[in-house]
Amino acid sequence: MSAERSLIAVIGAGLMGHGIAQVFALAGHDVRVHDVDARALASLGERITRNLSDLGQDTGAAARVSAVSDLSQAVAKADVVIEAGPEDLDWKRRLFEQLESMVPAAALLATNTSVIPITQIMRGLRTGHRAMGTHWWNPPYLVPLVEVIKSAWTDAACAQRMFDLLRAVGKTPAMVEKDVAGFIGNRLQHALWREAVALVASGVCDAQTVDTVVKASFGRRLPVLGPLENADLVGTDLTLAIHRTVLPAIESAPGPSPYLEQLVAQGRLGMKSGEGFRCWTAEQQATLRARVLDHLKAMNRAESLQEGT
Ligand SMILES: NC(=O)c1ccc[n+]([C@@H]2O[C@H](COP(=O)([O-])OP(=O)(O)OC[C@H]3O[C@@H](n4cnc5c(N)ncnc54)[C@H](O)[C@@H]3O)[C@@H](O)[C@H]2O)c1
Repeated sequence: MSAERSLIAVIGAGLMGHGIAQVFALAGHDVRVHDVDARALASLGERITRNLSDLGQDTGAAARVSAVSDLSQAVAKADVVIEAGPEDLDWKRRLFEQLESMVPAAALLATNTSVIPITQIMRGLRTGHRAMGTHWWNPPYLVPLVEVIKSAWTDAACAQRMFDLLRAVGKTPAMVEKDVAGFIGNRLQHALWREAVALVASGVCDAQTVDTVVKASFGRRLPVLGPLENADLVGTDLTLAIHRTVLPAIESAPGPSPYLEQLVAQGRLGMKSGEGFRCWTAEQQATLRARVLDHLKAMNRAESLQEGT
């Protein structure tokens, strides 16, 4: 499937769905995107064209994406269906039950859920062997990783087909063999966030200092040095000695921090309310968003230059 032109159906034309569609279209596949919101469908082509133009990529790729208001029409001939709709277990379960009888027998089915275990979503399907998770990161056309998550029933060959397709369209797929909450990326990310909140809550430093420490230290190395590469670099013996001292002192609460609960209860919801861990003017928010995008684009440019050498 990876070498030929496939038909990809994407359910949900929102933040993730339009970006996922863009990735497949740019790689030469035909994409049908379904949404129940007519405005999301109407703006689909324009959003994809704008992203492509901004990245200096072929805007003609947007013509391979069609907006389809009828679900069965969107998926009837699909080789792959990727769901990027609301993060709601019951909704996702109902959708996959419906999809099963609408799609060709060989089609792969995937959900882009952020955290819901895939096994809960796909439970009860007749053809659960071809269903899995594909966890993309925002924005899907700039962040390389897609985790391919096997449920309790996913056939290894089907997961491998998805993995190969994702690699062929330029993504960096990672196979998640066991369906654990948060998969790999979000487990690691939120282990860090839990400690970050705990450091602020216990008065070690303020929120800005936590972020400065991460960005100016190990954050600098992370794009080229993963944690276990780093452990091998410094030595597993040193890593063991550090863990013996530091792990007993690190936050290990099994639930959210009361500090975080309090922020939410007070309406300090982050950028959308102007204040969360820190205060944010509209200008500061725009600057940070632009900086993240510029950074991701620069990393991709640097990587393509390296590949070209
Ligand atoms: N936003 C992220 O950073 C991110 C990252 C990874 C995974 N995810 C997951 O991806 C999924 C989509 O997230 P998003 O951020 O794109 O959300 P979004 O709200 O931007 O988009 C969801 C889209 O689904 C559409 N929709 C609602 N009901 C529908 C229906 N019955 N049929 C078809 N479409 C319907 C909505 O109209 C909307 O356009 C969620 O499961 C989310 O948890 C999000």
